[in-house]
Amino acid sequence: MTHAPMPGAERLAEPLRSRWSPSIFDPAHDLSAEEIRTLLEAARWAPSLGNSQPWRFVVAPRGSAAHAAFVPHLSRGNSGWVPRASLVLVAGCEVVEVKSPDYARYDLGQAAAHVTLQARAMGLHAHQFAGFDHEAAAVALGVPDHVRLMSGIAVGARGPADDVPERDREREQRPRERRPLAELTDPARW
Ligand SMILES: Cc1cc2nc3c(=O)[nH]c(=O)nc-3n(C[C@H](O)[C@H](O)[C@H](O)COP(=O)(O)O)c2cc1C
Repeated sequence: MTHAPMPGAERLAEPLRSRWSPSIFDPAHDLSAEEIRTLLEAARWAPSLGNSQPWRFVVAPRGSAAHAAFVPHLSRGNSGWVPRASLVLVAGCEVVEVKSPDYARYDLGQAAAHVTLQARAMGLHAHQFAGFDHEAAAVALGVPDHVRLMSGIAVGARGPADDVPERDREREQRPRERRPLAELTDPARW
């Protein structure tokens, strides 16, 4: 089983239908520079308020200096699976001298979604995460004050489950659930 059934998702188009967030990445898989560039192009072409493009990414392929600087700041729960992914994009957005910092965050989220879908279209998987020490990571990565780190996007190929911590195996088996559609669209149920 790769993930639990997703009632209602059958009608979605690819790569939306097969997108999910695995926690078992192949530590022997590498991305080419060309693949990394394509993932970043997906973010680059996301829509944004006034075409402001407030997203910023620290590009940290496994084995790079940026990766080594970032990994110690992962939360305990993320420290097992994130380092096995081929690439981490540490994602932030401009929060100073932008028209609306709220929309900078909104736009970054959309750019991140583009990355996850482009990854799936390339036969890869992506798993976003917020569980890391944002302040310490910003210092370690030399992120300037006007950029606020928000998340990481781990990208890679799914790997063998044998040698990963039980916690990460268990995480993959959790049923994927969603609120009923009516709860999204009926203000009386908000
Ligand atoms: C902003 C954001 C932060 C997240 N933080 C974490 C995290 O720290 N650790 C983790 O394992 N998953 C994290 N996730 C993944 C979510 O738990 C996951 O997307 C959600 O459970 C739905 O599962 P799915 O992506 O497989 O559909 C995060 C996702 C987003 C969008």
